[in-house]
Amino acid sequence: MKKTGILLLLLTAFALSADAQKWEHIADTPQMGWSSWNKFQGNINEEIITGIADAMAASGLKEAGYTYINIDDCWHGKRDADGLMQADSSKFPHGMKWLADYVHARGMKLGIYTDCGTATCAGMPGSLGHEYQDALQYARWGIDYLKEDWCNTENVNPMGAYRLMSDALRAAGRPIFLSMCEWGTAKPWRWARDIGHSWRIGPDIWCSFDSLRVFPTSVQYSVMHCIHANDTLRAYAGKGHWNDPDMLEVGNGMTASEDRAHFTMWCMMASPLILGNDIRGMSDETRDIILNREMIAVDQDTLGVQGLHFCSERGLDFWFKPLAGGDWAFTILNPTKKAITYALNWQDFNLTDEEVSGRSTRFDAEVYRVRNLWTHRFEGKTSKKAKVERRITVPSHDVVAYRLIRQ
Ligand code: GLA
Repeated sequence: MKKTGILLLLLTAFALSADAQKWEHIADTPQMGWSSWNKFQGNINEEIITGIADAMAASGLKEAGYTYINIDDCWHGKRDADGLMQADSSKFPHGMKWLADYVHARGMKLGIYTDCGTATCAGMPGSLGHEYQDALQYARWGIDYLKEDWCNTENVNPMGAYRLMSDALRAAGRPIFLSMCEWGTAKPWRWARDIGHSWRIGPDIWCSFDSLRVFPTSVQYSVMHCIHANDTLRAYAGKGHWNDPDMLEVGNGMTASEDRAHFTMWCMMASPLILGNDIRGMSDETRDIILNREMIAVDQDTLGVQGLHFCSERGLDFWFKPLAGGDWAFTILNPTKKAITYALNWQDFNLTDEEVSGRSTRFDAEVYRVRNLWTHRFEGKTSKKAKVERRITVPSHDVVAYRLIRQ
């Protein structure tokens, strides 16, 4: 009797931990993929999503790590008599299960979108009061990623709402990435670590390098605004839970320099890399940026530490990101309107990341090989001596980015 009891206990513990393991490692590194919103807003349909899935596989993006194909707002039809949500059949004639199968057959994952409130930001049905039904429906369809927005949430408690959806997804039994889109209003970085896999830290991005877009009741952030908002939040990010400064605008109208700076900084900040352009027909310049595997490796580094804004000097911003194995990523960002030449002495950058990793650069004691992440060339080594090592010109709205490889 006693033995059977122990055996039962062990079996239950094993089943519970096996169940928990399903949700482990979903977000060991920041999520990568594509979303329909930045380019298409509500004008989406099955043809666009299947076309994107095909392009993702054909262009090498899938191999580079872009896994999720995320349908944002406006896929919704109506709830059926039982309250189960249906897709808009004029936009998605084969339905969501068919679409998930299509994407899975090509080795990728499908994401979908809902809202904690009564309606989404575009006025589609929200999940409030239907969380368990919606989670079950997504799981049945084979959905792998859920973005949950925050419109129309009067009197809804954010922590409670996201906890409810998180529990509902687990109860539905399919591992689904939970991307919280609460815009940072209730400081989710303080409480969402065990609820969602990433959380938005601010308002929506728009395709601008440094201008704020102001509406009567809201604003949209530029690339630089997103960076400033994320700057102070690095201690909250890590394996399984990431700060999200919003989806990428690369390829949507900024200059190549601005796109390069945008992409580099998202990688330095260990941000989700969710493409927002039409990858079915992109320029070579855009392709080269989003397919820069050495830069993607900085974002996806297994140490999982968000980069550190070490200092700003002479108009330039200096960023460091500790990487696994003793390497560092180092970026000089020029947010000004003029090119700036800087005389670099490595000894000015002896720093210790006391806040997060505890790692020190120790340029006085270590030597690093210097790998330029945009020209893909080695540029010599760092020096232990205090001397001006090199003059670096950083063009306006651009970056110079290195991987410092410890010898
Ligand atoms: C909000 C979100 C955006 C997008 C739209 C859809 O504004 O922050 O990312 O999902 O809603 O309506």
